[in-house]
Amino acid sequence: MDRLYHVLEAQQFDIDLIDAIFFTAQEMEQVVQHYGSNILNRRVMATLFYEPSTRTRLSFESAMTRLGGGVITTESAQEFSSAAKGETLEDTIRVVAGYSDVIVLRHYESGASNRAAAVAGIPVINAGDGAGQHPTQALLDLFTIQREIGRLQKITVALVGDLANGRTVRSLCYLLAKYEGVKMYFVAPEMVRMKDDIKEYLQRHQVPFEEVEDLHEVARQADVVYQTRIQKERFGERTGEYEQARGRYIVDRSVMDCMQEYAVVMHPLPRVDEIDPEVDADPRAAYFRQAHNGLYVRMALLRMILA
Ligand code: CP
Repeated sequence: MDRLYHVLEAQQFDIDLIDAIFFTAQEMEQVVQHYGSNILNRRVMATLFYEPSTRTRLSFESAMTRLGGGVITTESAQEFSSAAKGETLEDTIRVVAGYSDVIVLRHYESGASNRAAAVAGIPVINAGDGAGQHPTQALLDLFTIQREIGRLQKITVALVGDLANGRTVRSLCYLLAKYEGVKMYFVAPEMVRMKDDIKEYLQRHQVPFEEVEDLHEVARQADVVYQTRIQKERFGERTGEYEQARGRYIVDRSVMDCMQEYAVVMHPLPRVDEIDPEVDADPRAAYFRQAHNGLYVRMALLRMILA
């Protein structure tokens, strides 16, 4: 089995390693159905979350528990860990590394996981670093596309919403770029368009993409419509810009009516109002299945890192 150590950014994965993770994730689904395993017995995972989370923290904690390991955790670490007393991230990581075998870190600063990995001495998993990356989300997104569409090559993916601040779409672009025949459409309000670093990366790797305004037109062509939330927390004082961006692109019945029968809508969640709840009952609404897949993919990562 391929060995993993840190999980810091989507670019670190190649197709063979992604295949190995997905193969293990399928095995993990069987493990869950049989009420877990003891493969990570006596191993300890520390989850350090400096930003809010439901899915990432709880799915990692569920994953570790289902594999027989233990969990120590700090949510709202900015407030409830010794960061509140002025401790540096590096010092916190050095200390927590002495209590655990792997650290899962969510932080508000881009690059925080790399800083943590530099001093940890144990594996660090980036669970979202500011507007930087969210590689484990991108892996579960790709796993979901594979399951829902049946392939990862020759697909058309429309990435919609806050593409400037959305770390999930940034990581997903890096992963999708590895597959032949992928075409991406970027559909975003003016003030939150995809950043140049990702566009330059795609150009350098000859991955076709287009920035477009008409969501309905793109929905006709897409295998996957990947909607994202406008990230209010990244706008700071610019509340006017946030209000302008919010509501510009909503996935509702009219968008679903444009989509192919086999196509799917995905969303990393949480959503606010960018997917109309009336869409939830449509079998093409894959976002809750997507969130559940996160458990299997994170179990696979922990197993490959620690077992
Ligand atoms: N998709 C995601 O990262 O969700 P949480 O913020 O709830 O972890």
